[in-house]
Amino acid sequence: MSAGKGKFITFEGIDGAGKSTHIATVVEFLRARGRAVISTREPGGTPLGEKLRELLLHEAIYPETEALLMFAARREHLARVIEPALARGAWVVCDRFSDATYAYQGGGRGMDRARLSSLERWTHGHLQPDLTFLFDLPPNVAGGRIARQGRALDKFEREDAGFHRRVREAYLERAASAPDRICVVDAGRSLEEIGKMIEEIVVARCS
Ligand code: ADP
Ligand code: TYD
Repeated sequence: MSAGKGKFITFEGIDGAGKSTHIATVVEFLRARGRAVISTREPGGTPLGEKLRELLLHEAIYPETEALLMFAARREHLARVIEPALARGAWVVCDRFSDATYAYQGGGRGMDRARLSSLERWTHGHLQPDLTFLFDLPPNVAGGRIARQGRALDKFEREDAGFHRRVREAYLERAASAPDRICVVDAGRSLEEIGKMIEEIVVARCS
């Protein structure tokens, strides 16, 4: 990979699809090639964002408030972490970003997409990820993976099958509307196959 400016790469998909696993791999891959990389997440990534995450993942919140809090946490994250990192030439690898709001608050909760789009423009009209990996998997398969982890579920993971199906569909709609940015990954393939594909795409698209 040639030296150059930092890139903003996001990972998306329903819970249990494999994002966290592959973020760790791609961060290691980039660092081994001499890149300065920060690995961060949403909601979260700043002290305020992590406090909001705690509320968002565990409290019952009215859907519109939930969407506004996601964007509030995002604005803080952009201003304090993402934009400064990109400005100094670092790469930013982020576990979820605005596509998740379209999927969960738009698809899952049924919020109007035009409202989300105006909040998105307000929050980061000037900036989009350079590349997004969407991990696509049937919700029952992802649910099985989470169940095998044997951990406590958060508020979103406890939602019913219909919610997770709508989230998946909304993600696929997003991918169809931004095919140059969003790369759909068949998350049912092996860890090795997925890892190799991601590395090839990162090298091809971000060099
Ligand atoms: P996410 O961050 O998308 O919620 P994780 O990376 O935490 O998902 O993965 C959820 C579980 O599924 C973990 O136990 C992980 O080891 C397992 N897993 C991830 N990718 C695969 C895969 N391709 N095949 C089988 N199991 C996987
Ligand atoms: P996530 O970081 O994926 O959890 P884990 O640590 O278990 O892998 O969890 C964040 C949750 O927040 C996830 O269920 C999706 C949800 N979410 C939204 O609903 N809207 C958003 O805009 C974002 C960024 C996340």
